Amino acid sequence: MKPTLILGIETSCDETAVALVDNTKHIRAHALASQQQTHAPYGGVVPEVAARAHLEVLKDLTHQALHHAKADWPDITAIAATCGPGLIGGVMVGAMFGKAMAAAQHKPFIAINHLAAHALSPRLVADIAFPYLLLLVSGGHTQLVVVRGANHFSCLGTTRDDAAGECFDKSAKLLGLPYPGGPQLEKLADAGDATRFALPRPMVGQAGADFSFAGLKTAVRLVIEGKNFGAEDAPHLAASVQETIAHVLAERTENALSMAGKVEALVVAGGVAANGAVRQRLQAVAEKNRLPFVAPPLWLCTDNGAMIAHAGLERLAENPTINDQSIACRPRWPLEEMGG
Ligand code: KG4
Ligand code: ZN
Repeated sequence: MKPTLILGIETSCDETAVALVDNTKHIRAHALASQQQTHAPYGGVVPEVAARAHLEVLKDLTHQALHHAKADWPDITAIAATCGPGLIGGVMVGAMFGKAMAAAQHKPFIAINHLAAHALSPRLVADIAFPYLLLLVSGGHTQLVVVRGANHFSCLGTTRDDAAGECFDKSAKLLGLPYPGGPQLEKLADAGDATRFALPRPMVGQAGADFSFAGLKTAVRLVIEGKNFGAEDAPHLAASVQETIAHVLAERTENALSMAGKVEALVVAGGVAANGAVRQRLQAVAEKNRLPFVAPPLWLCTDNGAMIAHAGLERLAENPTINDQSIACRPRWPLEEMGG
């Protein structure tokens, strides 16, 4: 029998990515074009610029991925693309490209929720059974979710204002670091002493698993604007911001574990999961609760095509006759609104 081979397309933010994943979860190819240089002068992603840039590279990236995997269209079982949530112009570029290729090649199309793809991504590299508790931390989202199946999620907590990644990025910007700030802030924090500045830890000590990061960002601004703050303090403040965010994420995760019922593992996904301090804190929470801790490799934490192809594989396994050609793109698409 021909192996199942899924083509995955990701265009919801500032990375254009295409990958091929087979039914043994082998990543046969992954091609990625980052737009970070394009958006850097603006200090953030410009949606219209992003959509056009996706359109320019998508066809070439797809050919690259097929070439690398030594595959051709007849070898593809189905085409999966992010249909939301995200910057809608970019999402539409990827989804329309995927739908058109699926129609032309007589393949099923699988609509992927970008958050679900992050949520399932650890299963691409580790043998984790459902249900597991997931901390999803990216530039747009901070959520604690029980993942029960490829299409079945229960949300225990979310942010009431900014996402953790946004807090990393905005604090980095205030510190004068270039976009995207998260990884830059982590580098700067390496040389810093996290005890030098005491920052507020929003929501810590309160019941539930919700987050709030807007106050922390304001506190960082006030420290920087203070008359005693000098350039030599930047690494210390970076370390304090990182330590505070990691602490808040870990404390809220512990609360969520007590709310979740029996779970098989603690899993972290999304761009902020690339942060070493965040991983360390969560690892400690998992150990304390005698749970395996799974964090995908760094390249799989940030946006990529392999997680989209893999989510497609999981959807196809649950529903072999799936075809989402008629599903519309959505700028907002909360995990709670997934089926199952
Ligand atoms: O999942 P992702 O690639 O894109 C979406 O938001 O969907 O996440 C990007 C976010 C950005 O806010 C970025 O600054 C943050 O993840 N990030 C990090 C690190 N790497 C990426 N934040 C802190 N430390 C890092 N090493
Ligand atoms: Zn993402």
